[in-house]
Amino acid sequence: MKDRSIAVFCSGQGTNLQAILDAIRRRRLRARVALVVSDNPKAYALVRAHAVKVPAVVIDPRRFPSREAFDRAAARIVEAHKVRLIALAGFMRILSPWFVRRYAGRILNIHPALLPAFPGSHAVRDALRYGVKVTGVTVHFVDEQVDHGPILLQGPVPVRKNDTEESLLKRIHRLEHRLYPQAIQEVLNGRV
Ligand code: GRF
Repeated sequence: MKDRSIAVFCSGQGTNLQAILDAIRRRRLRARVALVVSDNPKAYALVRAHAVKVPAVVIDPRRFPSREAFDRAAARIVEAHKVRLIALAGFMRILSPWFVRRYAGRILNIHPALLPAFPGSHAVRDALRYGVKVTGVTVHFVDEQVDHGPILLQGPVPVRKNDTEESLLKRIHRLEHRLYPQAIQEVLNGRV
């Protein structure tokens, strides 16, 4: 299933990685996670990968003199696993223009807001503070700007009156876990 192989890049909890793995197990997503890459040795995503025997590689950013040097190491690992698509799932590093160009049209990202509103790493808090009545989830192709690029899928999440960052994030996550496998499926099916 080489042409349906994907790499998932994570830095943290990896609940989206889990959703992808679960969707594959339930045959809702015809794909194979060939590789998990993390820049954080403590990422719980690594535990999730080990649990299903998916190769997981930690690349320590401190070992590299520049962003591009890190990305070149990541690319070497990606090449070795022959993946068709790279799914960023809570990967907290900005990718270099070199990496983005090399994998143009083959990198997806999921963001917890309706882009172009609320880019950045505090999207849920920012949306709540702004007072929007609806926020949501965006899956997009990655280009050289942060949280930017052609949008593949979006879904709304209404903000409730008493929402806290935590309660809103919980509902956003629920939608993310449905949308990301769906978006990956669309790309792998060549429908995009
Ligand atoms: C998600 O909310 C995603 O939108 C954002 O980072 C978070 C990752 O969560 N880019 P998890 O590690 O998949 O649980």
